[in-house]
Amino acid sequence: MTRTPVNVTVTGAAGQIGYALLFRIASGHLLGADVPVKLRLLEIPQGLKAAEGTAMELDDSAFPLLRGIEITDDPNVAFDGANVALLVGARPRTKGMERGDLLSANGGIFKPQGKAINDNAADDIKVLVVGNPANTNALIAQAAAPDVPAERFTAMTRLDHNRAISQLARKTGAAVSDIRRLTIWGNHSATQYPDIFHAEIAGKNAAETVNDEAWLADTFIPTVAKRGAAIIEARGASSAASAANAALDHVYTWVNGTAEGDWTSMGIPSDGSYGVPEGIISSFPVTTKDGVYEIVQGLDINDFSRARIDASVKELQEERDAVRELGLI
Ligand code: NAD
Ligand code: LMR
Repeated sequence: MTRTPVNVTVTGAAGQIGYALLFRIASGHLLGADVPVKLRLLEIPQGLKAAEGTAMELDDSAFPLLRGIEITDDPNVAFDGANVALLVGARPRTKGMERGDLLSANGGIFKPQGKAINDNAADDIKVLVVGNPANTNALIAQAAAPDVPAERFTAMTRLDHNRAISQLARKTGAAVSDIRRLTIWGNHSATQYPDIFHAEIAGKNAAETVNDEAWLADTFIPTVAKRGAAIIEARGASSAASAANAALDHVYTWVNGTAEGDWTSMGIPSDGSYGVPEGIISSFPVTTKDGVYEIVQGLDINDFSRARIDASVKELQEERDAVRELGLI
């Protein structure tokens, strides 16, 4: 049976993450090894030539699943009929830029892109925002797309989730594949809270296995939360291949489901669960099935976790208030 290709739009396609992402999308790592894709690459005019170069390389790879590439600087064209949108392109923070300036500059990107998604995307559109500040950029795009169900707009905390699994595996000597049910709560920022109290290592409670609260508070949490900055310091540029890998993981899991007994972390519009104010885009533990995610309910949140979740959520509320004041939502 020949399947209809899935339209995948990638913004910031000529950037670092774009370069690490596009070849793997074309080889089936986004949706599945039997799912053909058509790529739409959105760039700003200055990025179009480089995007064309990447498209030439994609052609030269003769990917059997790749059924077309279109390059444009027009969001209405880029999102026309899009089934999956990966919003990677964003305005990076530059020297002397205040938080408000960054939010405002990104509002100028994510508001029109949200509107273009609203007006042009396919009914089953799924959106992942990678560009920082990812949670609030997702909120801006979602607010500009009133005809799209809000839950289709998500922000990436899967990289944080993967980082936390890797750090926990290193500490305990476990295989990463033995670790389940880890959670990232809150913002994709230094306030995020990687939670191991419900995580399992080969079926045993992770916090009990580690049994070292000082390591948890002083090593594990800051290492995960500040890993992005550590990569920038080491590489001289922000994470790209691991970020692309996490974007693939996020969408693959959303579309194809979580494994029985496991969950993942996604930044999603809060429904008020766990005391997170409704509407802000915050990371939660979620299970996925048939392209739909659900927040894992009923977890006991101890005082250690509560304080950290609340701190990250407070930051998200402040970001929301700032973009509201700027008229972006
Ligand atoms: P990059 O600077 O290499 O590439 C960004 C690309 O976006 C550039 O080619 C630029 O021309 C393009 N762009 C800018 N504005 C655009 C617009 N309006 N429409 C389309 N394209 C546009 O950056 P990168 O390393 O690829 O990172 C991209 C973003 O991802 C950054 O904001 C970075 O902070 C973020 N990031 C997020 C995570 C996460 O875990 N959520 C992890 C790593 C990086
Ligand atoms: C990361 O977590 O690697 C990035 O979000 C860091 C950044 O600021 O680009």
